[in-house]
Amino acid sequence: MKILITGGCGFVGSSLALKLKHKYPAYTITALDNLHRKGSEQNILFLSAAGINFIQGDVRFQEDLEELSYDVIIEASAEPSVMAGLKGDDRYLIDTNFNGLFNCIGSALKNNAKMIFLSTSRIFPMSAINSQDYIEEPSRYTLRYGTGFAENFSKEGTRSLYGMSKYAGELMIAEYIDMFGLKAVINRCGLIAGKGQFGRTDQGVITHWAASYIYDKPLSIFGTGKQVRDVLNVSDLFRLVDMQIHDFTTFSGELFNVGGGIRNSLSIFELDSLCKKYVGQKDIDFQPERDMDIKYYVTDNSKIQKLGWQPEISAEDTVKEIIEWLNSNKEELRWIFA
Ligand SMILES: NC(=O)c1ccc[n+]([C@@H]2O[C@H](COP(=O)([O-])OP(=O)(O)OC[C@H]3O[C@@H](n4cnc5c(N)ncnc54)[C@H](O)[C@@H]3O)[C@@H](O)[C@H]2O)c1
Repeated sequence: MKILITGGCGFVGSSLALKLKHKYPAYTITALDNLHRKGSEQNILFLSAAGINFIQGDVRFQEDLEELSYDVIIEASAEPSVMAGLKGDDRYLIDTNFNGLFNCIGSALKNNAKMIFLSTSRIFPMSAINSQDYIEEPSRYTLRYGTGFAENFSKEGTRSLYGMSKYAGELMIAEYIDMFGLKAVINRCGLIAGKGQFGRTDQGVITHWAASYIYDKPLSIFGTGKQVRDVLNVSDLFRLVDMQIHDFTTFSGELFNVGGGIRNSLSIFELDSLCKKYVGQKDIDFQPERDMDIKYYVTDNSKIQKLGWQPEISAEDTVKEIIEWLNSNKEELRWIFA
């Protein structure tokens, strides 16, 4: 089996590549990445050491995909920040997240390959999420009715340029499935975390939080600190992608909300408490709420659960995993986080 992973030096792409190669040593795995994300070049060494091919390529350019042959493409390249596009980098965002996907679809069709696309819960409009009925508890918001959002949750409203680019990508895939017989599955993920993530203030909040503790950097809570996210460990995502690759017809043509679910959800306050528990004390200041923030996102995994997958790793274990990774690679990772 030949598997191409675009964005293969990013957090999700490299984690999936390494786990696939570990489980299936005979597979040919290729990571394609333009190394746009700070820290992604660090992963080339790990990938090469594991026997994974690396191609420095850019999904924005059709010619970078032209010569490649493979059976499965995992499309994990992206500008993945909800703040992206706000500072004049909107062309890069759209070119990568939408036009890059268009190039990947063309390449997948040419190869008659199966495609797994990583979408995001950020396709749901911010106003639709924030206008739900929430109870404000001491450490978190909770939904008054139900616990999470399913695939059919409202799409009415704006969702950030990032969310739009991924939603547009979902729609494009649906058209190509219908009209050109593209073999594709969409995993619409909530927050993904685990060791190997080069978190920043605008993306990768758990690593960002833990790294700020470990490297003793100033840390601010924007808003109340009661914002809630469910945490999907990348190893749990790997189990799903593994199932999908090897039993593709069960999932083909479908879109799934995929996340940690209510049992694996954390507010910023709760994340902070875990960092205090496992790293030590630290002062935090409060800043006004940021644009683009949402009060709450927890996945309703009912649809994917019916096909035999559910998250297994707790949010606390994910936080511990990240802290252990940062502590044991503190000097090597200093240039990224400090
Ligand atoms: N991390 C999360 O919490 C999360 C949640 C939901 C969905 N996703 C989706 O998962 C995918 C992977 O996200 P991630 O967290 O690994 O992000 P990441 O930034 O760590 O990885 C993305 C990789 O894509 C590469 N890249 C960017 N532009 C490119 C281009 N034009 N051509 C080739 N490579 C390019 C970057 O260099 C980076 O290595 C994205 O599609 C993202 O939308 C991530």
